[in-house]
Amino acid sequence: MRKIASKDLGMLPLKEKDRPIVRALLSAGCCARCILRFCCIGLQSAYRQSYEDLMNELQTFVSAGGCGKSHDVADHEHTEDPPCKRVKLDTVEGDTEVVPHAQAESDLDTAEPKVCVVCLGVLQHFCDKTFAKKVSEAVTAEGYQFDSLVLSVSLPAQLSVREHSTWLLVKKEVREKGLCLGKDDVIQVKEAFKWIMNGLVSQELCVPVLAKSLFEVSVGFTHPETDGDCHFLATTCSDCFKPAKNKQSVFTRMAVVKALEKITDENFRRQFPCPPKCPTTRCTAQDIQCLHVSVFVAGRYNKFSRTLPQTPWVIDGERRMESSVEELITAPLLSAFRSEGFNFSSSGREDVDVRTLGNGRPFAVELLNPHRSQFSKEEVRELQEAINKSSDKIRVRDLQIVTRDAVGHMKEGEEEKTKSYGALIWTQRPIEKEDIEFIKDIKELKIAQKTPLRVLHRRPLAVRQRVIHTMTARFLDAHHFHLHLRTQAGTYIKEFVHGDFGRTRPNLCDLMKTDTDILELDVESVDVDWPPAVGD
Ligand SMILES: *[C@@H]1O[C@H](CO)[C@@H](O)[C@H](O)[C@H]1NC(C)=O
Ligand SMILES: *[C@@H]1O[C@H](CO)[C@@H](O)[C@H](O)[C@H]1NC(C)=O
Ligand SMILES: [Zn+2]
Repeated sequence: MRKIASKDLGMLPLKEKDRPIVRALLSAGCCARCILRFCCIGLQSAYRQSYEDLMNELQTFVSAGGCGKSHDVADHEHTEDPPCKRVKLDTVEGDTEVVPHAQAESDLDTAEPKVCVVCLGVLQHFCDKTFAKKVSEAVTAEGYQFDSLVLSVSLPAQLSVREHSTWLLVKKEVREKGLCLGKDDVIQVKEAFKWIMNGLVSQELCVPVLAKSLFEVSVGFTHPETDGDCHFLATTCSDCFKPAKNKQSVFTRMAVVKALEKITDENFRRQFPCPPKCPTTRCTAQDIQCLHVSVFVAGRYNKFSRTLPQTPWVIDGERRMESSVEELITAPLLSAFRSEGFNFSSSGREDVDVRTLGNGRPFAVELLNPHRSQFSKEEVRELQEAINKSSDKIRVRDLQIVTRDAVGHMKEGEEEKTKSYGALIWTQRPIEKEDIEFIKDIKELKIAQKTPLRVLHRRPLAVRQRVIHTMTARFLDAHHFHLHLRTQAGTYIKEFVHGDFGRTRPNLCDLMKTDTDILELDVESVDVDWPPAVGD
């Protein structure tokens, strides 16, 4: 018996104990590759054989058991079936040739090209060179720069229901034979798909297809005909199916898997056919989706304009300022990286009327789904120059590509950092040089700031303690002087000067014993030692 089997089996490592399982699955309408999966065949090359060869081998295998001279006990129940009829085999996509071969019992009738009851055709019609070409062409058309990729597959949720139903069938078969098999040993559809397709896609695109990569190619399948398969689960586990904002259906794969873990075998069998019903259509492949992980670019910017907000200023859907720091910096980056979007962040921010001078303010831009991601130092320098030349309102230095983790440093310990400011102050009472001399003697002045009125609409009301480390004043005229401050980051300078109706205490009005206001403010330095300086 073993001899016949191994001779006929070609390369399939099937054992005698698999014969009843193969037989049951063939008659249930499983495709050849799903049968391998349920026989827990972990030999990847077995799945890569042509579908016809594989089906041939499987049918030879069952007929060897059914028609062979020696029967073992396990196959006894099937011996009444008519032996070895000649019928045609399933045909796969793009191949209309009918392959005749020896085939066994009538309940294994595969005369019609049938769509697999489990994988709904995924492992039959979408696991060949033709589909690999289709995927590769879609990827190539997107024009990404990549030197490896990861292939990910998303399957219709009902596939899990069908998998479960088929598993119950196999379990029954296995149990009757006194064998033992765990559900975890069954090879997943996704896994089998990748075993076949990774190599084929790799050949087409000439890059390795890996388990992990910065570049992800997603293939998704739907099968509307059987979408209703999942619905009965809602009554067995209402907790499992909660509407989620961005999901079209509550029957997500995760929710279905969870419900299947809870339902008893008896209850499942009562509500869902076992084996599953034969579908009349195969799955539909969705558009291929490509995604490259974000690239992060960091640098420091100067802002020389008092009419330029940091981010687009939109009130009631209408733009108030024609541009913004963010847009000026990101426009050349977006086009160079051919990115789909961005996420701009910086170490603090300045008001629209505040300039940022000195070494500039650290910033980082996350470029989302960049089609190009590799740039030489020289190319990054050219990008910086392009930003510099695009406007005289801003300049950028130390532009560089950084890691996602490094961006975290920018925000780390931001509160403890020091910032330096220059401010033009107006005083109500006329002053003389001597009136502002006391200012330089004030050190480590602790102030308490209630959330300023002007930001109350977007920040919670709180009292924040801040420290003004040092100040120096330079007399200009009877109502004006220049004030230089070194403060803890996060200090509201304007409020410290005018007092914000007493919400900042003490304030410059208290110290000067007259009303003071701030006419101009510049950030002179942001003492964050990131990103590192870039040499020429
Ligand atoms: C932008 O960055 C923030 C914080 O770093 C993050 O929470 C958010 O998800 C990002 N947005 C996108 C579209 O990646
Ligand atoms: C851009 O401007 C900054 C600030 O003036 C300067 O330090 C940097 O060298 C300039 N970079 C290029 C490439 O033009
Ligand atoms: Zn299948």
